[in-house]
This record gives sequence, C-alpha cells and structure tokens, in this order.
Amino acid sequence: MSKTVRRFLEEKWLHVALMILAAGGLTAQPIAPGAPFLAEAGAPVRVNEAGLNEAGQNREPFKAEITIRTDQPGATISRNIYGSFSEHLGSGIYDGIWVGEDSPIPNTRGLRNDVIAALKSLNLGVLRWPGGCYADEYHWRDGIGPRDKRPKTLNTSWSGVIETNAFGTHEFMDLCELIGAEPYISINVGSGTVQEAMDWVEYMTSDTESTLATLRRRNGRDKPWKVKYWGVGNETWGCGGNMRPEYYADVYRRFATFIKDYSGNHVQRLASGSHDDYYKWTEVMMAQGGRHMQGLSLHYYTLPTGDWAHKGQATGFAEDQWHSTLARTLRMDEFVQKHSAIMDKYDPQKRIGLIVDEWGTWYDPAPGQKPTPLFQQNSIRDAVVAGINLNIFNRHCDRVQMAAIAQAINVLQSFILTDKEKFVLTPTYYVFEMYKVHQGATSIPVDVASPEYKAGEAVIPSLHASASKDTSGRLHLSVVNLDPNRPAEISIKTGDARAASVIGRVLTAPAMDSVNTYDRPDAVRPVPLTGAKQQDDRISVTIPSKSVAVIEIR
Ligand code: AHR
Repeated sequence: MSKTVRRFLEEKWLHVALMILAAGGLTAQPIAPGAPFLAEAGAPVRVNEAGLNEAGQNREPFKAEITIRTDQPGATISRNIYGSFSEHLGSGIYDGIWVGEDSPIPNTRGLRNDVIAALKSLNLGVLRWPGGCYADEYHWRDGIGPRDKRPKTLNTSWSGVIETNAFGTHEFMDLCELIGAEPYISINVGSGTVQEAMDWVEYMTSDTESTLATLRRRNGRDKPWKVKYWGVGNETWGCGGNMRPEYYADVYRRFATFIKDYSGNHVQRLASGSHDDYYKWTEVMMAQGGRHMQGLSLHYYTLPTGDWAHKGQATGFAEDQWHSTLARTLRMDEFVQKHSAIMDKYDPQKRIGLIVDEWGTWYDPAPGQKPTPLFQQNSIRDAVVAGINLNIFNRHCDRVQMAAIAQAINVLQSFILTDKEKFVLTPTYYVFEMYKVHQGATSIPVDVASPEYKAGEAVIPSLHASASKDTSGRLHLSVVNLDPNRPAEISIKTGDARAASVIGRVLTAPAMDSVNTYDRPDAVRPVPLTGAKQQDDRISVTIPSKSVAVIEIR
C-alpha cells in the first residue's frame, strides 16, 4: 500500500471513528439472520500481535472505502452479459446435458433434470452452441430427424471422438426453452457454405410452406423458433479458418447478407472477433464490416502462468499462482477498454455490442484425470475470477452487451460438474446466482479505495467492485476480496439517504483451492453476510479474505 493511500485510509477511519463516538456509536443493522459469516465460512486463524499467522503472513483485516456514485447512473446491464456456452467438447454436452430418453438419470426428453433446474435458476441471458472450434465443422443437417438415422461423424476439433449427433438443433432449442435462455447459434463458416447457413436460418425461423419449414414440422416442431443471435464463424483467425482480418471481413459480409429475417424473426449478426490484445482485428472489422454487424466478439482466457504449454493447475497451487491468476484476469478490463476505444471511433453511438463470448479460466489437466478434454475442477479462486469479470462487464455495459463464460458443464470454468448420475454445483455457479440481481439494472459507478495486494513485486488491488440500481430502487453492490489472507473492513458510502435495510450474501472458503465435490457438494456455498452497521449514509461491513459478496441496500 502506498504511503498516501495508507494515510488517507487512516485519516478517513479516524474521522469515521470520531463521528461514531460523537453519534453515540453505530446502530447495528444485521444483514441477515444466521451465524456470523466468518465463523461459518472461514477457517479460524491464529495471529500474533503483529497480525502475522504462523507462516508469517499478514492476516489482519485491511480497511477500504467504496463510494457508490448514485448521482452518475450509467447504462443498463444487459441480461445477456450473464450468458454461457456449450460446445460439443469432452463431456460438455454428452453426459453433461444430454443423457438420452432411456437413461436411468432423470431427464426431460433426454436432457438431465438436475442440469435443467440448476441452469434455469441462473436466469442465463444466452446459451451459445455448438462451438467454439467445433462450430466450424458442424453441419446442422446431421443433427435433425430420427436420432437412430443421424450420421456418426468425427469431432476433429476435440480428440477425433465419434459424434452421434443425438444432440442437435431440436434438442438444443428444447434446452433453451426449458432453462429460459435465448439461443445464440454459431454458424459454420470455416468448412460450411453460405447456402448451408442460410438454410439453417430458414429451417429454424420460417413459418412458410417452404420445404425446409415443412421438414422442421415433420421433425416435431410446428411453430418456428425465434432465434435472434447468429454468430458468423468462431475464432476465424485460428481454428475457424486461420484467416486474415481483411479476408474475414469480406467473408463476414457475404455470410451476413444471407442471414435473413423470416416470419417476424429479427436476427442480430455477430462477427467473429479478436482475442486478448489483437487490436488490429477489431480495427479492420470495424472499418470494413461495421455497417453489417450488430456485435463483434472478443475471447480472453485466464491462464495462471500465461503460458499455454504450462498453464498451471486448478487446485494445489501456491499463493504466487493465486496472485498471477487474478492479475491476469484483471487484464480483461484493459482489453475491454482498448477494444471499445477502437469501436468508439467507428461507432460512437455504441450500436455494435462487444460480445465477450468466451472467457474464464483454463488450466492444465489434473494428473491422473480421466482423459476428458478440458475438464477441470473449480475452486474459490474461480469464483473470485468470475466476480472480477462480471464486475468488469457490469462497469462497461455501455459497450459489453453480451458475454458467455466458457463453458456451462464439465468444460473449463463450468457451473456444474457431472459424472454419470453424480452432479455438483461449482463455486462459479454461485457467483452467477448471486450476481443475477444486476441483470437489467442500471450500472452505477463505484470508487474503490483499498490497499494493494502484493505477491513478491507484483501488485494488484485487494478489492474489486461493481454496483447497479434495479427498477425498484434497490442498490446492489458486488465486492470481491482478492486477498487470500486478510478480511476487508469496508466503509460503503451510498450518497443516498440512510438505507431502510441492508442484506447480503458472501461466498468464501477455508483454502485458496477449496472446491465442491460429489461427496462434499456444499463445501463452498454462499452464506448470509451478517454484522453490517449503519451510520447516516455509510454502511460498514467486513467480508472475509478470498471472497465474493453481494450486498443489497434498500
Ligand atoms: O472453449 C474452448 C475453445 O476455446 C473453443 O472451442 C475455442 O473457440 C477457444 O479457442
């Protein structure tokens, strides 16, 4: 922590303490009934007089201040920011979502009931399918009609496994309807044709007597579906065709021309965008394709080491990798801002959305793990990563109009892990569940004054936050404590009159890599946040180390 910040905080807190004394002490405003969250959610910590634990780490709480700028309301946080992605990859679809109608695992028309219930309660804005890289080798006609007649194809993107095509267009749309998410379809540009793409749109959305619409009816769906979001290829700079941006811009325009509105359906065409700091891609696409698109995507994965050959493990890591993972995930803010600045030059009205349709952690496979591609455990560190990224999207919701975490089930930073009949919700699931209060609300800027969190020479902030106000006037503040050792004593200034009530929940865990397992599914789950106190327009609350909290102020 710099001297200036420390002095500011000390003076501020002295000032607050004096005010409290003058006012005769704080009025306790319990945030919710229940046991004190620190006792429930964290392991007891023994510290010496200097606040150091047995390993010499500082476990003393740090002080911070958050000002919620209710006087500066921003844009609406699209529900679509709270989206996900399901690719034909590993056990993401088969076993994860689709078990088939004859399975002993309880299902609805072949789709797992436990998964449907869990995803429904997240209120996801969108679900992206069928890839990813797989989208550019997927031919939609393979996945319609009687299942026993569908061809067996090879999934060359992911280990060359046999694709039964049992889960196709009708099954995906059934899932979207059951969980209440908008479908977002990635069409095949890499190995597909414009005609094939055009036919898929007609098959799904036309209410005419055309041969394709009639075929859809014969396959069991009478009414056309409404399908708004169509992605034109995936990672076309890489697995989607290794194109140059100048070339893809033309390919995009050609495909986009033939993705048409039928029977009252209104399409939005989303272009395959950049990754990380590949700004040239955004520049070329905005200059050459801008007029023809409603969205441009961005992919950014968080690797603990930043090295694709040695990414780091999902669990069993030391604090240096906790720190580097969070430092790398914080870079999402920089990427969003810089890609947005390029988009602003061509589209100052922010008509074209930045669509962050692949984000999340990506680790090395665990030693001895069954060889299911991209399966990984999910710990409290992933929850902290999710909280930070969702805060970033909330804060930049004027440009970020959609996002999709990769991926929903059993792949990368998933919500759910399954193994045959076994099922468990991950810490990341709970962050989405806690944060859904931001969906459709007005983004409110926040100023965060908190000490730095250091590991060696590397420095990142210890707190990260975003806020919104919903249509009923409730303020929601989501705060992430990035420090894995020290609780945060936060003084929150709302700028509004004294709050009538304050409630909240917090997600934390005893260790940096605490996970939920099939045997201990509730090891990491949110608990009520208690102990908040209020004085005039300030609320003081303590959140544990390595935690994600959402506080509602009425
Ligand atoms: O999400 C896994 C893969 O990551 C996707 O298929 C691809 O788009 C990205 O490179």
